[in-house]
Formats: sequence, structure tokens, C-alpha cells
Amino acid sequence: MSDLSHLFASNRLWAARVERDHPGFFTSLTAQQNPKYLWIGCSDSRVPANEIIGLMPGEVFVHRNVANLVIHSDLNCLSVIDFAVNELKIQDIIVCGHYGCGGVTAALAPSEGRIFDHWIRHVRDIAKFYRDEIESESTAGGQSRKLCELNVAVQVVHVRESPILHSQSARGVKVHGWIYDLADGLLRDLTPMVDSVRALEPNASVR
Ligand code: CO
Repeated sequence: MSDLSHLFASNRLWAARVERDHPGFFTSLTAQQNPKYLWIGCSDSRVPANEIIGLMPGEVFVHRNVANLVIHSDLNCLSVIDFAVNELKIQDIIVCGHYGCGGVTAALAPSEGRIFDHWIRHVRDIAKFYRDEIESESTAGGQSRKLCELNVAVQVVHVRESPILHSQSARGVKVHGWIYDLADGLLRDLTPMVDSVRALEPNASVR
């Protein structure tokens, strides 16, 4: 087994630094969490939710998976949304994708028949559905970026269409679609695009 003692050492330094800068920080969080946002993002190590929006522990409720997918039958993700809306009373749900997403790019290449490919099949379906839009981009990089954006848009619709969002307790909840650029560390709001993407909306109410 590898020696991970450096991570414990790093943790002690971090905890001491937080307590020095914010006396009483940890004890104040032991009683309850009161995050204002739910972040649904990619597992990619380069897209850490709290850090890129500058929030401390306790400020954002997080669900991450490969390619930031919201699958209708994924009890893991749906339970997070349920808890966020009905227990934590969160009013803003952010689906955040990122350019250069390995999961999304893999969906534009032939399947290798791995377990991973079963998950990515959901993105492959989006690539098929929006083939014309994607192929309007002339480069492989451009096509990947386009699919990253379309994937965010579709996942936003999946959240909006989930029964949780149609319950009385979800009144006023807004679902946002963002994308993060690894190249400059900046976020962009895709929500207007979500609302205009052709064929996404026939049954989806706009929140
Ligand atoms: Co990714």
C-alpha cells in the first residue's frame, strides 16, 4: 500500500489555516449545513467545484460523475437532487460541464466496449441526436467543444424534467447550465443556449 501520510500532513495544515483565518469555522459547521447551491459537475480533477467558484466547505452541495450526466434512472444523482431541494431547500441548481471533457470526447470516438463506454453511451446518444450541429464544426476540437455545450444543455433539461423539480416543494428552483474552460479557469453561462436549443423543449417547462 502506498504511503499517504503526506495527505494527512497536508490536511492538518489546511485545517489549521482555515481555523486561523476563520476562528470557530469547523464547530460552526458541525450543527448543520446550509448550502445555497447544488453543483452537478464532472469528476475531472481539474474542475473542483468549491475552488473554482471560491466557496468554503458548507457553501455548495456537490454531485460529480464522469461527464456531468443526469440520467433519469440514476438514483445516486436523483437522490442528491431530492435532498438538495427537499431537505436543504436549495433554490439554484448548477449543471457545469467543461471543455476538454474526456468523457464527452470519448463519445465522439468508437466504443472500446469497457464499462466506461456504457456510461458514455448517454453522451453518444446526444452526439447522434445533434449530429448536424456537431458536424457544422470543422475540427475535432470544435466538435468536442460543441458536444460539451450540448451535453450541458441536455442535462439541464433532464434536471428540469425530473419529478423532483415538478413537486410543490421545488417551486422557484432554477436550473442553470454553465461551462468551465480549463484553459483560462473561467466559467461561462450557457443557460440562454439551453433555452434556445432546438428540439430540447417540446415537453420541458422553462424555469
Ligand atoms: Co469531464
